[in-house]
Amino acid sequence: MNLHTIILAAGKGTRMHTNLPKVMQPLAGRPMIDHVITTAGTLTNKISTIIGYKKDVLNEHLSANFRNVETFVQPELNGTAGAVKAAQKNIMDDEDVLILYGDVPLISRGSLKKALNDNHDAVILTMIPKDPFGYGRVIKNDSGLATEIIEEKDANAEQKKINEVFTGIMIIKGEMLLSSLEEVNNNNAAGEYYLTDVIKIASKKGVKINTIVVEETEVLGANTKSELHEIENIFREMKSKDLLEQGITLSDALRVDVRGSVSAGKDCSIDVNVILEGEITLGTNVSIGPNCYLKDVVISDNVSIEAFSHIVSTQIGADCNVGPYARLREGTVLEDQAKIGNFVETKKTKIGKGSKANHLAYLGDAEVGEDSNIGAGTITCNYDGTNKHQTKIGNKTFVGTNSSLVAPLNIGNNSYIGAGSVITKDVEDDALAVARGKQSNKPGWAKNKK
Ligand code: UD1
Ligand code: CA
Repeated sequence: MNLHTIILAAGKGTRMHTNLPKVMQPLAGRPMIDHVITTAGTLTNKISTIIGYKKDVLNEHLSANFRNVETFVQPELNGTAGAVKAAQKNIMDDEDVLILYGDVPLISRGSLKKALNDNHDAVILTMIPKDPFGYGRVIKNDSGLATEIIEEKDANAEQKKINEVFTGIMIIKGEMLLSSLEEVNNNNAAGEYYLTDVIKIASKKGVKINTIVVEETEVLGANTKSELHEIENIFREMKSKDLLEQGITLSDALRVDVRGSVSAGKDCSIDVNVILEGEITLGTNVSIGPNCYLKDVVISDNVSIEAFSHIVSTQIGADCNVGPYARLREGTVLEDQAKIGNFVETKKTKIGKGSKANHLAYLGDAEVGEDSNIGAGTITCNYDGTNKHQTKIGNKTFVGTNSSLVAPLNIGNNSYIGAGSVITKDVEDDALAVARGKQSNKPGWAKNKK
């Protein structure tokens, strides 16, 4: 059966006090709606989003980031049924429709899978929260099937006591959804077109609607910054739990932020205040010190990343040592046993096996061979104000401290650059290049100064 996911995101989010559409509020560094789309994307290629409030901002974001997501504008914010109706021309009779909310970002693939595998005519996800206030109460018949959802505003005292509530998530056949939507009216306390009325209408037509209870933490909605913060905390804990389950040692599970995916070999450890974004791959026996930021990084075995290092789009070989205070920018490749020390910045640079830049250097658009040493204060002058140029340094070469290497430049194997040099011409293998003012001592000069 084909699956079509519709994500409701037209609402205003008044209580967020924001100029952004509510679903653009960041959770773990990404807009809330991105999490929902990503989860939905693991189940189906057909995704529709309903936008309304600040639709241009949202439309621009979605079209820039998700190629296969279609957007539909809800002309008037008249309720959740109105929202789904905005996409009705995209709803096919013979498909399953999964309704998700853009502001309920933690829903898991696992729970959705479970609902999709259920073989009733339709399924709603429910929860039993500590406090059911504000949610639609689920009414069931004797066989335990859902027959109706009553919104808080419309519920009588008896119904308000029901503690099983609707999460907003449902799966229903396109045909049944379309025909039921036709019958939804706005004769209710809010004067809105409730999507929840579809349950009553479909049930009356004999549709068997099952309920599946999920954990409250998975279906919390973010209506305020404080709810969003709670969701952020839950997300952090979930992600940390993943790391622990993979066998990673965490100094404090509440002080690691995983904002992407992490896979790791055995005996890895992560200290406090580490942020991991994008895709992170760790080999065996990798340790990440406190206060590091890593985004899209692949690290091999036996690597130590020390405190305060900032590493983006980088590949690190085995037995390397990085930091403290290293900055490895996009396109950095460290081959095995390389060492990058404090206050060294690299960009689009390859450091060969066993080579070192231990302190205070900038290596950009460079290639360093094996077993070479880059002294403190070395700068590759890669930019002439218009273009970037390459610096190539061979194997077993020693670049003395405070050298400016003016690119384009080739420095051969087994060569030496004298400290304080400004190197503008290529250096051949086995040579010593010195390019600095000659020292001259003036004996007695200080004594005669006055
Ligand atoms: C809804 C459900 C309620 C359920 C609760 C779970 C209805 C009538 N009620 O209530 O049973 O317990 O969610 O959180 O559906 N939206 C639009 N267009 C609109 C109105 C809303 O796109 O015109 C979107 C919002 O952006 C949001 C979602 O629909 O993502 C839910 O809307 P919201 O107003 O928060 O519904 P609730 O009152 O919370
Ligand atoms: Ca809500």
